[in-house]
Amino acid sequence: MNATMPLTMPPGWDQLDQSDLQAVLRFAVKQFHPKLALASSFGLEDVALIHALLQVTPDARVFALDTGRLPEETYECAEAIRQRYGINIHWYFPDSGAVERLEREKGILSFRESVENRVECCGIRKVEPLNRALADQTAWITGQRREQSVTRLSLNVLEPDGAHGGIWKFNPLAEWTLDDVWHYVRQNDIPYNTLHDAGYPSIGCAPCTRAIEPGEDQRAGRWWWETPEHKECGLHNRNNG
Ligand code: ADX
Ligand code: SF4
Repeated sequence: MNATMPLTMPPGWDQLDQSDLQAVLRFAVKQFHPKLALASSFGLEDVALIHALLQVTPDARVFALDTGRLPEETYECAEAIRQRYGINIHWYFPDSGAVERLEREKGILSFRESVENRVECCGIRKVEPLNRALADQTAWITGQRREQSVTRLSLNVLEPDGAHGGIWKFNPLAEWTLDDVWHYVRQNDIPYNTLHDAGYPSIGCAPCTRAIEPGEDQRAGRWWWETPEHKECGLHNRNNG
């Protein structure tokens, strides 16, 4: 267990109805704003969370990791969200020297060659920028759901994040199904990534995401050449006990 990790849940958490999205977000804001940030990949879960969080506090901090390989539809969605809600999105870009070195030494598609190479690329393009995005935060909010994959089955709505110095991590949609998220997005007329209408329930970088077939798992289109238990990129390593 990380020495800097919080050992007890924040006061009031145990009495809270964790299935009440607004109540969870109000709790997060009361406890941690302005040292609270929402991580958005502009997937369906994240646009729902942006909408919900802005109801609680209009000056919520939303950040996004621009890996340099995102699909055009993701940028379109980010811009639609920015305009709809009138917010600044705090974009983080990978270290340019590290990307240049990787591409010169291993080529532009090195992540297809092995899990190690894929983890290296995610490390440079996602994990290092995420560390910078979280450096000044005490808590963050993600759109992860249990239903998404075998790696997320034991996800909690609030958990200590040992991978980032023991800050708190809220996963307010942990228990939601994909249908629940669609219902919320439609009910509130929230702009969403149009790739969702083309068979992409889960969207990451363009070269590492494909559409899924009916009956496949929701994240089957992510790093589809790897086995399910490898399908985390390091943003959500759960070494937090
Ligand atoms: S990933 O780790 O495999 O990429 P996934 O795409 O399922 O994760 O997204 C889970 C959550 O991680 C999102 O709801 C969001 O909170 C965060 N996240 C993923 N990708 C990004 C990104 N590029 N920028 C910011 N947050 C992200
Ligand atoms: Fe690199 Fe693919 Fe990871 Fe994006 S998802 S950072 S392109 S390996």
